[in-house]
Amino acid sequence: MGKQARAIADLSLKDLVKDLNKAYADEWLAFYLYWYMAQVVSGKAYEDMKEMLEKIAKDELEHAEELADLITKLGDVPIADPMELEKNANAPYLMPPKNTADINRMIRVVAEAEAGAIEVYNKIAKKTMGKDHNTYQLVAHILSEEITHEEMFENLLER
Ligand SMILES: [Fe+2]
Ligand SMILES: [Fe+2]
Repeated sequence: MGKQARAIADLSLKDLVKDLNKAYADEWLAFYLYWYMAQVVSGKAYEDMKEMLEKIAKDELEHAEELADLITKLGDVPIADPMELEKNANAPYLMPPKNTADINRMIRVVAEAEAGAIEVYNKIAKKTMGKDHNTYQLVAHILSEEITHEEMFENLLER
């Protein structure tokens, strides 16, 4: 971020970077959780579930990349130490079900993680709306993807 960009951002950059780094930590936990479940899922219809989890894991990794890029542009750095990821996340890591064929439980875990993400991005969007257009734009984009993710899994539960 250059001088003028800093000057027009009508909010505390330190607070903003802290919020973004917490969301960055959330994204890594979500990526790992979904990716992990995609590797181990078993049982009936496991192929569809694997494919969906892989697709969403990729989105979460992309969100982490987008946040890392933004944090860097804001003049800071994303969390370097993986041990710090869970400590800084907005919510504790959700453990995947021990029974790898329990697809319903997996869906519930994902739905919970997505609901948490929606809450986090909604908060950052409200904080940055009209104050930091650049951050708002990215956060609104990520939020819309989290909403799609939640929907995808909620639809599966209703079946
Ligand atoms: Fe995400
Ligand atoms: Fe998501």
